Amino acid sequence: MSDNPWQDDRGNKDATITRKEGMGQATVHAGEGQTHPAPGGPFLIGEKMTGGYGKGPDILHDCTISVDRGEIAVIVGPNGAGKSTAMKAIFGMLDVRSGSVRLDGEDITDLSPQARVVKGMGFVPQTNNIFTSMTVEENLEMGAFIRTDDISETMEQVYDLFPILREKRRQAAGELSGGQRQQVAVGRALMTRPKVLMLDEPTAGVSPIVMDELFDRIIEVSRTGIPILMVEQNARQALEIADKGYVLVQGRNAYTGSGKELLSDPEVRKSFLGG
Ligand SMILES: Nc1ncnc2c1ncn2[C@@H]1O[C@H](COP(=O)(O)OP(=O)(O)OP(=O)(O)O)[C@@H](O)[C@H]1O
Ligand SMILES: [Mg+2]
Repeated sequence: MSDNPWQDDRGNKDATITRKEGMGQATVHAGEGQTHPAPGGPFLIGEKMTGGYGKGPDILHDCTISVDRGEIAVIVGPNGAGKSTAMKAIFGMLDVRSGSVRLDGEDITDLSPQARVVKGMGFVPQTNNIFTSMTVEENLEMGAFIRTDDISETMEQVYDLFPILREKRRQAAGELSGGQRQQVAVGRALMTRPKVLMLDEPTAGVSPIVMDELFDRIIEVSRTGIPILMVEQNARQALEIADKGYVLVQGRNAYTGSGKELLSDPEVRKSFLGG
């Protein structure tokens, strides 16, 4: 077995064998080693969120998004639907006028984004998600800003997950290709050893081949026991790897179901998946 927690058991789809808690820790079977058995519902949930930017109009209307342990949850929907706004609301970058956010049963609605990172949330925003003038390695170091312990093992794990970043560790991140920059952004978020990872369009602007590659890496991360909540423009491909999907329209939940259900729903297909 490799030392890389993201590469263990690759291809094994039985989550009861592969799921682990956190990065770099020993394999646990589902049911064992889970300190919080999620008494109060999903691991991360933004529930009935209503709110907008500053004094502007509400963008989200009673919007509910959640992700559970062992899951990849995907948010899709048209441009301007409020997908990024929902992610920002869950991460604490938006004042929700009503509704709540809970992480592992704890109400975190009033916490700052930084406090949420300390609680275990990792977030890769849609834009400006790397420091372009800094090297790849400096970006990863910045990612670990809340840690005071030795980060070298986590950095090695990120490099094992994204080998090209090891090669380019001394290069300015701004010189990298689009797909490589997204790897830096995801790697940066992993440096805090998050309990849940939120990705806003991790495959934006990359070729189909690079998209598949990034999805494979995201699946690997999820198999280490980190639930993933992501927004995706490539709706069909994302729903194929999703345990759960949300279609947002005008800040509201329009359709919710398993990835399979949404992919086979005639209305969803017609309106959001190009038929
Ligand atoms: N910082 C902001 N201040 C004010 N309004 C904003 C801000 N960011 C987004 N909006 C508005 O909120 C609405 C939803 O935008 P949002 O970026 O959440 O959509 P999205 O679903 O992520 O779209 P895309 O697919 O283009 O990324 C839009 O009407 C947008 O104009
Ligand atoms: Mg967006």
